[in-house]
Amino acid sequence: MRRYRIAPSILSADFARLGEEIARVEQAGADMIHFDVMDNHYVPNLSVGPMVCAAVRRSTRLDIDVHLMVKPVDPIVDEFAKAGASLISFHPEASEHVDRTIGLIHECGCRAGLVLNPATPLVWLDDVLHALDLVLIMSVNPGFAGQAFIPHSLEKLRQARRRIDALGREVLLEIDGGVKVDNIREIASAGADTFVAGSAVFGSRDYAATMAKMRSELEAATVSP
Ligand code: DX5
Ligand code: ZN
Repeated sequence: MRRYRIAPSILSADFARLGEEIARVEQAGADMIHFDVMDNHYVPNLSVGPMVCAAVRRSTRLDIDVHLMVKPVDPIVDEFAKAGASLISFHPEASEHVDRTIGLIHECGCRAGLVLNPATPLVWLDDVLHALDLVLIMSVNPGFAGQAFIPHSLEKLRQARRRIDALGREVLLEIDGGVKVDNIREIASAGADTFVAGSAVFGSRDYAATMAKMRSELEAATVSP
């Protein structure tokens, strides 16, 4: 069976009690912490930076999956690496030189991901997929938690899965935006293996129960070999 990962997004956590929130999702069975960085320039919202990432690093042993929604990208990469990021993903529109940014993330000792917005085509993967550790498909327009899943993302996942399988090397295929208990099975069946969930987890009363429901849905997903 495919290995699935659930990555709660701290964007929907209670920032006044962030350490406790991280500990709660870790105990509840989270696989990674998704860390959304917004700059009020590339996206219309402002969130958190390397200082908060370092604080999260001190609160958990889980991988920190940094999702940069910032422009420019390169000047901030090293700071997130030093702050304990495990993976760093960025949007191609925000980088002047995508291949160089991927190399920079690797040089800093992190795994590298490329993020494709709903209107950003998969052709961006043509010349860089071989160098990536993760492909993140946005199923909402980036900037806010709690938006509805865009159905076309399923077709995009199917095509991204084909490209990754043809590569014959492990590359995580992550989905971000509007992931809930009631659609996660369909999303997994389309090819995703890593699921960002912000409001679905942190907006629920019992994080462990919510993630357990997600996992039982994932077990029921049909994945073609
Ligand atoms: C949106 C962020 C997401 C967000 C997801 O720009 O990248 O990670 O936190 O939130 P939900 O799961 O509530 O759609
Ligand atoms: Zn995100």
